[in-house]
Amino acid sequence: MPRKKAPAKKQPKKVLAKKAPAKKKAVKKVVPKNVAPKKEKKKTKGPNYATLRGMKDILPKEGVSWQHMYHTAEDIANAYGFSYIETPILEQAMLFTRSIGKGTDVVDKEMYVFEDKDGSRVCLRPEVTASVARSYINHGMQTFPQPVKVWYWGQMFRHDRPQAGRYRQFHQFGCETLGVQSPVVDAELIAVAYNTLRDLGIETTVRINSIGTVEDRENYIVELVGYLRSKRSYLSDESKKRINKNPLRVLDSKHEQDQAVMEEAPQILDWLSDKSRGFFMNVLEYLDEAGIPYVLTPTLVRGLDYYTDTVFELYAEDDEGSQSALGGGGRYNGLIEQLGGEETPAAGFSLGIERIAMVLKKQREELEKQENYKPEKPGGIFFAQLGEQACKRSLYLIEELRRKDLRVYHNLAKSSLKAQLETANKLGVSHTLILGQKEVQDETILVRNMESGIQEVVDQKKIANTVQKLLSK
Ligand code: HAM
Repeated sequence: MPRKKAPAKKQPKKVLAKKAPAKKKAVKKVVPKNVAPKKEKKKTKGPNYATLRGMKDILPKEGVSWQHMYHTAEDIANAYGFSYIETPILEQAMLFTRSIGKGTDVVDKEMYVFEDKDGSRVCLRPEVTASVARSYINHGMQTFPQPVKVWYWGQMFRHDRPQAGRYRQFHQFGCETLGVQSPVVDAELIAVAYNTLRDLGIETTVRINSIGTVEDRENYIVELVGYLRSKRSYLSDESKKRINKNPLRVLDSKHEQDQAVMEEAPQILDWLSDKSRGFFMNVLEYLDEAGIPYVLTPTLVRGLDYYTDTVFELYAEDDEGSQSALGGGGRYNGLIEQLGGEETPAAGFSLGIERIAMVLKKQREELEKQENYKPEKPGGIFFAQLGEQACKRSLYLIEELRRKDLRVYHNLAKSSLKAQLETANKLGVSHTLILGQKEVQDETILVRNMESGIQEVVDQKKIANTVQKLLSK
């Protein structure tokens, strides 16, 4: 066998001597007076698992506010006779492309669509209305007493460009009334949305319009497209593209140049059939009667295709000219039929919880800025314990109180009484129950008045009575 030739020795590459970079002149940092020096960020070990763009944690400090929003929504929905419904977060993608419609931003750009393991196209729900309509059909709800009134609360997903009040995962509270065609239904839904925000301390303006039936809209679109073509050169590039794709969306364009053109545009209200016009007038009459202020907004068309007749949006009143609605909704008489069900009139609304949280936060910050602002202390009673025996007994006594619907703050993980009393002071409680070794043996407990420091010995059997009296003061 011929011997393999030994490979030629690699010649070392010539390395050009690099010029050493000129030493940077040491610049003395001048820290202006009254400015705290920047803290160096601590390096964390391992990879940084940040939340995905447009998604956020709801932190414990926001918990009270979120629970308050939830319970306010729950109370009002129950009071108006809506029953709770929960539909899956993952649905067939077709459910939304069919109902919300191609050509809308939600379907064209924002849906989280992917192929499931069996090859089917699924998506994270961008909203719940289509899911409720699907559920109504799937479970034969047309045979239930009509209307079927449902409410929901949950996460939605839209791959939108994140900005203030716009997330990729967000929450909605919503109500849907299915099976009845009556203007009082539309007015009731608007009242529920408006009063939920009012109960939360947010005054809103309701913007309202009617986009009529599908036929009304088709006739109107012919007129609108003619007008838009005649003004094409004045429109923004985005609106130019929309003339053929989705001309109604030009009406509520956010571009100033488009808004000027829209002032002269034909109004959809002039194209409504007598039936739709009459229905809309009745909705407005009910709102007048209920004392709900509204602004007729002929350019309001909404961004989802399933609407017919009434459409509305709610905006925070002190957020004049805002482009971020706190909520919106309308009638969707054709949706259930479109998804394969019987012809069923329906209407509903959804409120955006993150946007509401933003308004509430802003309100709190303004309040805190006021000179005579005093933070509200929650009051209540603290339960402190000292020593191992006492700590063991505490769990039993706290549970006894809870069963009687009496809640006490506590921190069983802390063993120092001083630290526990400090927490009690921070919470602003009026009294602290103190259980030490001696009290465990005597089957008593100390009740300390946090303001005067006076302590009273109480029989453990009477704790519930004592706590009840102190809480009701
Ligand atoms: P929507 O107008 O698309 O309607 O959404 C309702 C509300 O959800 C908005 O007014 C806004 O407050 C909030 N929202 C929407 N997108 C985002 C986002 N990316 N980030 C944060 N909040 C957002 C619907 O979803 C319809 N399903 C309403 C409805 C119910 N119509 C009839 N029934």
